[in-house]
Order: sequence, then C-alpha cells, then structure tokens
Amino acid sequence: MKTFYLETFGCQMNVVDSEQIVGIARQLDYVQVDSPDRADLIVLNTCTIRARAERKVYGHLGRFKPLKQQRPSLIVAVCGCVAQQEGRRMLEKTPHLDIVCGTHNLHLFADMLRRVQTRRERCAEVSFLDAGQRRRLFPERLPSDEVTRFVTVIQGCDNFCTYCIVPHVRGREVSRPSAEVLEEVRALVRQGVREITLVGQNVNSYGCKEGDEISFAALLRQINAVEGLERIRFMTSHPKDLSDELVACFGELEKLCKHIHLPVQAGANSVLRAMRRGYSREQYLDRIARLRQVCPEIRVTSDVIVGFPGETGADFEQTMDLLRQVRYAEIYTFLYSARPGTAAAELPDDTPATLKQERFDRMLALQEEITGNYHESDVGRVLPVLVEGSSRQGSGQLFGRTTWNRIVNFDGDAALIGHVVPVRLVRAFRNSHLGELA
Ligand code: SAH
Ligand code: SF4
Ligand code: F3S
Repeated sequence: MKTFYLETFGCQMNVVDSEQIVGIARQLDYVQVDSPDRADLIVLNTCTIRARAERKVYGHLGRFKPLKQQRPSLIVAVCGCVAQQEGRRMLEKTPHLDIVCGTHNLHLFADMLRRVQTRRERCAEVSFLDAGQRRRLFPERLPSDEVTRFVTVIQGCDNFCTYCIVPHVRGREVSRPSAEVLEEVRALVRQGVREITLVGQNVNSYGCKEGDEISFAALLRQINAVEGLERIRFMTSHPKDLSDELVACFGELEKLCKHIHLPVQAGANSVLRAMRRGYSREQYLDRIARLRQVCPEIRVTSDVIVGFPGETGADFEQTMDLLRQVRYAEIYTFLYSARPGTAAAELPDDTPATLKQERFDRMLALQEEITGNYHESDVGRVLPVLVEGSSRQGSGQLFGRTTWNRIVNFDGDAALIGHVVPVRLVRAFRNSHLGELA
C-alpha cells in the first residue's frame, strides 16, 4: 500500500484544488495519511500570501530532505501559487524536490507522478491554459459525507490590485457555465450536502465577460431553487462589483446566509486609489448601507492591509474610523509586504516595521472589542444552526454554524447532523459559542 501526505495552505481555491489532488492520488492507489514521516508521496499545496510565502515553503521543504535521504523512493511535490510563481527554479533550488505543478496544471499531475515513478524524471509544469481549455478541465467532485462543500464558479482574477499576486499566479477570470455549476450543486445535494459555498477570487464578476450567459445574482436565484439545499454562501466579493441585483438577493433568497465577506483593504481614499481597488470609501459605505437596508440582520466581515506604501498616520486613522462605522463582525488583518512582480512592489515600502506592527496591534484591539460585543450580545438568543458534525475536541458535542458563519458547540444526538436546529447560545468564546438545543 502506497501512502500520501498533503498539506494545504491559503484560500478556498487551494481547498478545492486539494480535493482534486486527493482524487488523483487515490486513483493511483495512494492512501492518505496524516504524517509525512512514512509517506511515499508528500504534496504541499501552497499560497504566496497567507501563512506560507515562498521563503517559508523552501524552509518547509527542507524538513523533508532527511526523509528523502532515508527513503530515496519518496516523491516530493509542490502545487499551488508558490509553484506557479517559482516554476522550474524550485527544482534547481531544492534537489530533493521532484514535482512542481502550477495552478493550471493539475490535470497533468497524475502523468507527472508516473514520470517520476518510472523514470525518476523531475518535472515542472507551470504554463497557463486558455479559457476554453480551463472550462473543460473543471474536475469531477469526490463524494464525501460532509454537510457543507465548496463549488467553484469562477477562477482567476482580472483586478490587479497593486499589492496582489493572485492575478499573476491564477491567470485571467474564467466563469464556469451555469448549467455545470447547477448540476454539481444538485449532485452534491443528492449525496447529502446541505450548504454550498460558491467560491472564486471575485465571485461577483461571474458572468461579466463576453460570451458568458447569466449574472451571479441570476445564478444564485437558480441555486436557491434547488430542492434539498438548505443554505448558500459565497466567497469572495469585490466591493466594486457588488451590483444592486446582488444586494437584492439578500432580501429575496431565503437560503442565502445573512453574511458577506466584503474586503475593504483600507479606509482612506488615497490608499484605495494607490491599491487600484476601483471604489472610494464613500462608495464602499454606500454598499454596506444598502446591504443593511435590504437585510438588517446581515453581518459583514473584511480583509484589511496595514502599512501599504504611503499610508500615513491619518490614513490609518481613517481605516480605524471605518471599522468603527461599519462594525464588522470579524476582520482578517494583513501586514503589507511587497510581492515580486506586483505594481506596488515598485513603491518604497516606507512604513517602518515597528510602526506597522503598532498599527496592526491597535487595529486588532479595536476589532476584538467590536467582535466581542457581537458575541456577548448574542448570548441568550435562539438561532437556527446547521449541524455539521461532531466537535473536534472529542467532547461528544456537536458543532454547527449560524447564518453568520459563527461556530456553535452543543450537546445533541449525532442524528441531527445535516439538519437545521434551534440552539440557544449560552456562552461566548473567542472562536465559538457554547449552546444548548432549544
Ligand atoms: N479576492 C481575494 C483576495 C485574496 S488575497 C479573496 O478571494 O479572498 C486575501 C487577502 O490577502 C487580501 O484581501 C488582502 O487583504 C491580503 N493581501 C493580498 N496581498 C497582500 C500583500 N502584498 N500584503 C499584505 N496583504 C495582502
Ligand atoms: Fe487580489 Fe484584488 Fe484580485 Fe482579490 S480582487 S484576488 S485582492 S487582485
Ligand atoms: Fe494564496 Fe493563491 Fe489563494 S496566493 S490566497 S492560495 S489564490
């Protein structure tokens, strides 16, 4: 029996790609294990933004060198955005690495594995495919017993925000035909899936290109009609493309969860302009106001970058002020760092690291307070929770999520998994609520 070990970093796109990697490895008779120590194949699915930038990936790969020395038959592969960015030179820099597989090349992964197995040939495939080829290559989904699953609706990104590497490593936007998305949703629901998250780097530019058929809002309405499906989410939305039609969905579609992740990145117009985000602070706040008009209960989360080139103290205060005004349920804060090849990398990274960190810490403290307020004031409420499974802590409890994507742990029978049940929130923790069946 051959075994493989897979580690996934980064965003929803990599999570979906990792599922494909698992499928390919299984087809080649590999069984998944949860430690690299005795694995015959090690795959890192990498991200150049979150958690593991390229330097960290090289460091991580170094840990596998002794394993390869002990067992020369071990195959080590790197997939995802670092593979795409670094390409063949990863093989030169890392003698014990066998495979570099770019973001458009997973359909070649099985063949690459065979080439290594039979000829010990080290290979790198990182060429971009055209839209037609990519549309044909959406992989079949693996069956699973999960209650909630991701479904890709659009790949790539055309926005070229000046700090961001994603358009460089994922290529141009390609929307998937709506009939195929619907078919996939129906098939997953037949397997017992109750919640679908539609994923893409920028889902609301779905269907916006010449030759595309329907808008994202129209797609949502069709998915809302799928029988047996309980909940719909989507991730991520770009504020500049948040159409009135899409905002209206939050008032019309009963299955659409009352949560939107709408990354603002910065609160000052000069910084937004330098980031090339395509909206002003005022336009952003107007979108939030409309969302709340249509759906008063909606909760908003966001990404924020601290210390973008040229960000002054006053600019930063504008971001702090925006956080107070919007009252996000949660934010993900990033310290700016230059990504090679992006437009902002040409600008001087002029905020000293200590000042960046100071701003970062102040922002975190403010958000902790706002988030804490939401969580405390939710205690006592009875909310519908979609039960996803048994709690990981092995406490015998179940866990599920509210419409706001907040995790709730509570005692209950495993037969409730896959059902929406009313749960009273009794205590708030940082990352979850404790609840009891109501
Ligand atoms: N549209 C995307 C964003 C992907 S990147 C999505 O689907 O989530 C995730 C976040 O990383 C961005 O929203 C941004 O806040 C942050 N980020 C991207 N490039 C960065 C950089 N060079 N420095 C710091 N943070 C960055
Ligand atoms: Fe990056 Fe901007 Fe595209 Fe998001 S919208 S992936 S931040 S370029
Ligand atoms: Fe990271 Fe690539 Fe996603 S860089 S955030 S894994 S698209």
